[in-house]
Formats: sequence, structure tokens, C-alpha cells
Amino acid sequence: MKVVAINGSPRKDGNTRLLLEATLKPLAEAGWETEYIQIGGKNIHGCRACGKCWETQDRRCVFGKDIFNEVNQKVLGAEAVILGSPTYFADVTAEMKAFIDRCGVVAMANGSLLAGKIGAAVVAVRRGGAIHVFDTMNHLFQISQMVLPGSTYWNMGHGMDPGHVAEDAEALRNMRHLGQSIDWLGKAIQGSVKPYPVLAKGEVWLDEGK
Ligand SMILES: Cc1cc2nc3c(=O)[nH]c(=O)nc-3n(C[C@H](O)[C@H](O)[C@H](O)COP(=O)(O)O)c2cc1C
Repeated sequence: MKVVAINGSPRKDGNTRLLLEATLKPLAEAGWETEYIQIGGKNIHGCRACGKCWETQDRRCVFGKDIFNEVNQKVLGAEAVILGSPTYFADVTAEMKAFIDRCGVVAMANGSLLAGKIGAAVVAVRRGGAIHVFDTMNHLFQISQMVLPGSTYWNMGHGMDPGHVAEDAEALRNMRHLGQSIDWLGKAIQGSVKPYPVLAKGEVWLDEGK
């Protein structure tokens, strides 16, 4: 099984990276193929609301001049995705928001591409606003028919300068447990005798005109 971790911080060797790596470690030890992807500080545009992905239905965004499609193909090929962001004015970074919006719309336009995948969110924060960052990332999972594992407390680590969260022992214990929960859940649902419930062919999730 494969898990992809995406870092939305432009500070590529900062606190979010440490939290994501602490979550990936138990998964690698349990035999998962892990891939760590940096999007913070890179060229990734927000959704342009052109609606073309509903016409092309090729699992891609028609705007191909940035890193979105390359990253999203890796997400679509994985059983689990972990999104990580620092807290920027109590929300995710602009790069993470751009990824969330396009990933979510491409998945819907192509018939629930994220359904049944595992999603987890981790947040780096100096002092306040992390729960809102956590919520923003979980919103993608919650409306995309994904499955969310819990952990021992909140998936957030405290620190300001790069490396500070390494001193937040409780956060690192939580991340280790989160990785272990993803492993447990992934193995449990992989062996499920029933397929994940998705919409029937031709059935749509939205009411026309609303
Ligand atoms: C533009 C900007 C906005 C920030 N806003 C907040 C905030 O609202 N609350 C907070 O506690 N920390 C805030 N911070 C601090 C970062 O969340 C904190 O330093 C975090 O550890 C950075 O993670 P990173 O090293 O992965 O980039 C902000 C930092 C920047 C650069």
C-alpha cells in the first residue's frame, strides 16, 4: 500500500516537515511505500472555476502549467494521503488551499476519485489557530467520501522556528500513533469483503440548479 504526504509550508525543512516525517515513519516500518511531496513555495495556482474538468473527465485539471497534475496523480495512486500545513493567520497556506480546491473538484468531476481513500491532516503552529487549519484540510476528506483515522489528541505540533516541534514530545507521540492508526485502518479496509459505497453509475451528488 502507498501513502503520500504533502507539505504545504514554503519553509521546506521546517516544523510541518518534522510532523509529516514522524507520521510516515511507522508506516514505512509497517511496509507501506511512502512518498513525501513538497508543494509549499512551488508554482501551484488556485482553481479557476472554468468547469472544464467536468467536460474532459480525464482525471486532470486542464490548467497544466504548474505542479498540480503531477502531485494529484500521486494522490490518486495512493491508498492514503496526509496533508500538512503550518498555521498562516489561522488557516492553511495559499499553496495548500490551491491544492485542496483543485484536488476536490477534479475528484468530483471524475466520479468520486478519492472515495475510500484514507485522509489525515497535521498542523504546525506557534500558538493559535491550528484547529481551523486542521478543519480546512479535513473538509476535503469529509466531502470526498474518504475515511479518517483518529489519534491520541490533536494532530498538531507547537513551535515557531524550524525544528521547534522536535521539542514537542506530545505532538511527536501523537504523530507516531497517527501513522500507526493509518496502518491499522489501511490493512483493515483493504481486507473488507464489501466495496466502499459510492454513487451508482449515472447518479449525481448535486441537485440541478442548487
Ligand atoms: C504568514 C504567517 C502567518 C502565521 N500565522 C500564525 C497564526 O495565525 N498562528 C500561529 O500560532 N502561528 C502563526 N504563524 C507561525 C507558524 O505557523 C509557525 O512558525 C509554524 O511552526 C511554521 O511551520 P513551518 O516551519 O512548517 O513553516 C505564522 C507564520 C507566518 C509566516
